[in-house]
This record gives sequence, structure tokens and C-alpha cells, in this order.
Amino acid sequence: MQPPSADAPILFFDSGLGGLTVLGPTRALLPTARIVYAADYAGLPYGQKSDAELAARVPALLGRLVERYQPRLAVIACNTASTIALAHVRAALDLPIVGTVPAIKPAAALTKSGVIGVLGTEATVRQPYVDDLSAKFAADKIVLRHGSPGLVTGAEAKLRGEPVDPEVIERAIAGLRDQPGGEAMDVIVLACTHFPLLQAELQATAGPDVRFIDGAEGIARRIAYLTEGQDWPAVASPGTAVFTRSDERPPPPLAALEPFGIGRIETI
Ligand code: DGL
Repeated sequence: MQPPSADAPILFFDSGLGGLTVLGPTRALLPTARIVYAADYAGLPYGQKSDAELAARVPALLGRLVERYQPRLAVIACNTASTIALAHVRAALDLPIVGTVPAIKPAAALTKSGVIGVLGTEATVRQPYVDDLSAKFAADKIVLRHGSPGLVTGAEAKLRGEPVDPEVIERAIAGLRDQPGGEAMDVIVLACTHFPLLQAELQATAGPDVRFIDGAEGIARRIAYLTEGQDWPAVASPGTAVFTRSDERPPPPLAALEPFGIGRIETI
């Protein structure tokens, strides 16, 4: 295989705006990399879809995006899509694919009480993938799980400058804390890329004794490792965000995406 040209972008993919939370740490390591950020607004929310639907939809859409943007590497910046469709995507596409894995391993290293919360979409928290991660890295811990579709809606609203319903935040924390053992929980894994957008609100409700952890730094390190030695543009340029067309949900205003280094919006 030919090495990628300096201009070949990195493609980030999520159902919505959550995957933007992965861009910051990636840009810190690879400051001039061209970025294409794709959001499947026609399919949002993924957390409410069946495994079969996502296993078909995600590889097909990523195939279209790869053809259109010719990225050097694709990042599934979505826990739901990764825990369900990563193997299907890798089988279908011939380029390096980085997935998003709930950060249970670092959470197990961080907890002092031995009780970890995993906050994700309903689809993610029911995955056998999460059972496997818990068995492998946190067998001697209590791993509580809660699926919160409201936090996805809240994160999308916050990015558009709309208010976030405080009850949604309270319900998400209570969904973990009210389970047996939950009062001792001292680490919460944000196992949906939308949720770090609401970390300040979640922290205020959970209190200062709870630490939050997500996978963004690990993803950035993995991207840097897989692209080591490749050429990059001499100077940074604003990234492109591409949205699948949805009548109910138009793309957000560009000003909401600019803080993430996005300078242009397309719809497909
Ligand atoms: N951001 C996604 C995740 O990481 C999914 C949100 C959704 O579409 O439900 O799980």
C-alpha cells in the first residue's frame, strides 16, 4: 500500500455531535492533521436502535464516507457503534479503523472504593462487549451500568446553546447510585462520546468525591501510533463536518462547531 498523502484526512464518525469530544486530544497530538467529522443525524439516536440495524447501517455509511473523503484512517467516535459494529466495519473496509471502548480498564485502576459506574446509551450498556471488559479488567470490582438516552439529547441541546433539563442529569446519576453498592461509587466511566459535553453538570450532581473518565485520550494516542511516520500538512486548516440529511434535525450553526476546529459544514 502507498503511504497516504499529507492531505489525506482522518475521518471521525458518530451518530451526532458527541464524537467532537474526541477531536481535542487528537488535535493536541496531531495539530495539522486534516479532519473530516461525520455525524449521522438521519440515524440519531443510535442508543435506541437494534443491534441488527446498527450492524448494517454503520459499515454501509462508513463505506460511503471513505469513498467520498479518502481518509488515511477512520475513527468510530461512538461507543454504541463501536461495541456493536466495529468488527463488521473492519471486515468491510480496507483502512485502519479505531474504535471507542468504554474506559473500564483505567476506571478499575482509579477506583479506591471498588465501585465503578458505567454511563452509556441503552444499547451500549447491554452489550456483551461490556461484560467482557468488566470480566477482564474489573473482575474484583462492582461495575454498575445505566443507559441514559436523555443525556444524548441534553448534550446535543447544550452544543446548540439550548438549556439542559437538570432532571436528566439527576436521573442519570441516580440510575447508578440507587443500585446496590452505588452509594460507594467513586468513578464513573462516560461510555458515550456525547456525555463529556455534560461533564460539568454531571460532576456538580455527583459531587466532588466522584471522578469521571472517558476514552478520548486513549483514542488520540492510538491514532498517533497508527499514523506514526506519515506525512502531515505543514500548517493546520479548519476541519469539515458532514451531516446525513434529516428533516427533523438540521445541522447546528457553524459557530457551535468552530470551538472544535470545524470551519465548514456539508450535508449528504
Ligand atoms: N455518541 C454515541 C455513543 O458514544 C451515541 C449516541 C446515540 O446516538 O445514542 O454511544
